[in-house]
Amino acid sequence: MIDGKKVLFSGMQATGNLTLGNYLGALKNWVTLSEEYECFYSVVDMHSITIRQDPAELRRRARNLLILYMAAGLDPTKNCIYYQSHVSTHAELAWILKCFTYMGELNRMTQFKDKSAKHADNINAGLFTYPVLMAADILLYQADVVPVGIDQMQHLELTRNIAERFNNLYGDVFTVPEAYIGKVGAKIMSLQDPSKKMSKSDENPNGSIYLMDDPDTIMRKCKRAVTDSEGVIAYRDEQPGLKNLIDIYSACTGKTPQETVAEFEGKGYGELKPAVGEAVISILKPLQDEVARLTKEKAYIDSVIKANAEKAYYVSSKTLRKVQKKVGFPERIR
Ligand code: TRP
Repeated sequence: MIDGKKVLFSGMQATGNLTLGNYLGALKNWVTLSEEYECFYSVVDMHSITIRQDPAELRRRARNLLILYMAAGLDPTKNCIYYQSHVSTHAELAWILKCFTYMGELNRMTQFKDKSAKHADNINAGLFTYPVLMAADILLYQADVVPVGIDQMQHLELTRNIAERFNNLYGDVFTVPEAYIGKVGAKIMSLQDPSKKMSKSDENPNGSIYLMDDPDTIMRKCKRAVTDSEGVIAYRDEQPGLKNLIDIYSACTGKTPQETVAEFEGKGYGELKPAVGEAVISILKPLQDEVARLTKEKAYIDSVIKANAEKAYYVSSKTLRKVQKKVGFPERIR
C-alpha cells in the first residue's frame, strides 16, 4: 500500500511499432486503472536487449513509448513513468532472485522456447532469465496487481512462486501479486487473419493498425479487412473477422458489441468498414497530436524522466535493502 492505495506495476517494451491492439488492450486500461491504484508503468528497455537491437533505434523508441504513456492520459505526477534502465535496483534484485529460481522453472517458459526458436543465433542467458527480471520489476514495488496479457501469465505465475519461496524462507518480504485481467474483451485480432492477435511483429503490415498510421492508411486497412461471405452483421465466433471489426468499433466508441450490431443491423460490410475506420481515426488522431505536442516539450519530458526515476529508485530501494539484509549481505557503513 502507498498512501492508502494498492500498488500496480506494469511495463511495455519499446520494440516494434505499437498497434491499436496494444492501445485498446493495454494502455487505455492503464489510464482507467491509474485512478484506483498507485501505479508504476515502466518502459522495460533492459528486457529489450535480450534480442539484438539497434542502439539508436532502441533509445528513440523508448522515448517515444514514454511519451505515448503520457499522451494516452497517464499523468506523470500521479503515475511513476520511467525507464527500467535508469533504476539500478531492478538489476540488483534480479540477481538475487536468480539465486532463488530453478533452471527447471525457466526451462518451462513457453516464451523462452518461442523466442529461442525465433532467434536461434542468439540464445543468450538474458533471454533465459528474462522472467526473473520481470519478477524483480514487480516485487520491488510490492505490487498487488499486475495487468498483463495472457502471454505473460506464465511469467506472472513464476513471479508469485519466487515471491512465496522467498517469503517462506525469510518471512513476509514480498507482496504476492495478482494478475489483473481486463473485464472487456478488448483483444484485438489481425485484420488479415482474425485467428491471430494484432501484433507489432506481424509480417503483413495490413493486418495491424499502428498507432502512428495516418488517417488514409487506417481507412485503407479497415476497408481491406478480411471478413466472410455471409453478408450479415452479427457478433459471433463463426464470423471472426467481422467480430473483430465490431470489437474495434465498440472499443473506440464505448459501445457494447450488441449496441454496435443493432446500429448496423440490415447494413452491409461496406458500411461497417469505413465506420470502423472513422472510429479508429477519432481515437488515434488526438493521440498522435498529443504525442507530437509532447515530443517538442523536451525539457519538460526530461524533467518527468528524472523525477520519476528518482521516485522509482526511492520506493524500490526500500525493498532491495530488506532483501539484501535477509540474504546476508553486510550492512552498509554510512
Ligand atoms: N514481459 C512483458 C512483455 O513483454 C513486459 C514486462 C516487463 C512486464 N516487466 C514487466 C509486464 C512487469 C508486467 C510487469 O509484455
